[in-house]
Amino acid sequence: MKTYTLSLKRIATGAGILVALLAFGSSGSADSRGRSSDENDEPDRNERDEHNRNSPAPVDVKDPALKNTAEMFVRGRNIFRFDTFGDEAFWGDTLRLHQAIAGANQGGTGPGVSPKTALAVGLKVDAGALPRNLVGNLKKGTVNLDDPATTLALLKLNAVVGVTGFFDDRGTLKSIGIQCALCHSTVNDCLAPGIGQRLDGWSNRDLNVGAIIALAPNLKPIADLLGVDEATVRTVLGSWGPGKFDV
Ligand code: HEC
Repeated sequence: MKTYTLSLKRIATGAGILVALLAFGSSGSADSRGRSSDENDEPDRNERDEHNRNSPAPVDVKDPALKNTAEMFVRGRNIFRFDTFGDEAFWGDTLRLHQAIAGANQGGTGPGVSPKTALAVGLKVDAGALPRNLVGNLKKGTVNLDDPATTLALLKLNAVVGVTGFFDDRGTLKSIGIQCALCHSTVNDCLAPGIGQRLDGWSNRDLNVGAIIALAPNLKPIADLLGVDEATVRTVLGSWGPGKFDV
């Protein structure tokens, strides 16, 4: 234990000397009273502030404030892109939209939603979330865009912009949620119309929200809320068209 204490002491002394040297070095020449000789030459406060405003300090990537800002930015972007805020309780559990997407062959109901249909109602695919071989096959045109199973594969890859699928251990789609990016992001179509790099903050003007909601097997909760029947809700949703959200 003794050697340990001793070596700590040595380190402390060494560090003290180093700090003193650094302090000396950075203060320019010091006179016999330890005061910096250029202290009197310092510009007055107003002049100095003016100087800082006109020539801001260069970006220091090690600045903790900058690191903190970057972290907050990334966390915020992840929320914007991926956080459903639990709304799968409504879109999935209540309206059962996930069953219509999966289709009867994949544990849901009806024909299911193929990627072609999904793209036709304005949903976007994030090319950045796709594995390289899938990108290659998309370019070659060998991906089956008529099969709802492909839609499920894209959901599993987190590649459908603004939509999150919740799967059980056996790979069955159990619920579905949406996030900000559904309406407030689009893609640059670099692979195909509707398939490309994410453009966050660009409104998705192709999105046919009415048509998407109308796919849900159960519209009773909305019909009850509005005091009309489900058929009326479907008719109104069908009249919205792309880029319309609540008219
Ligand atoms: C179902 C589509 C949809 C979703 C999901 C959505 N928004 Fe919006 N958002 C809209 C529409 C439509 C407007 C109104 C645009 C207008 O009237 O110009 C809007 C407006 C806004 C505005 C005001 C923009 C402005 O210029 O005034 C902000 C901010 C905003 N949304 C943030 C969010 C955030 C954050 C989320 C996720 C928590 C979110 N939105 C989810 C459709 C959506």
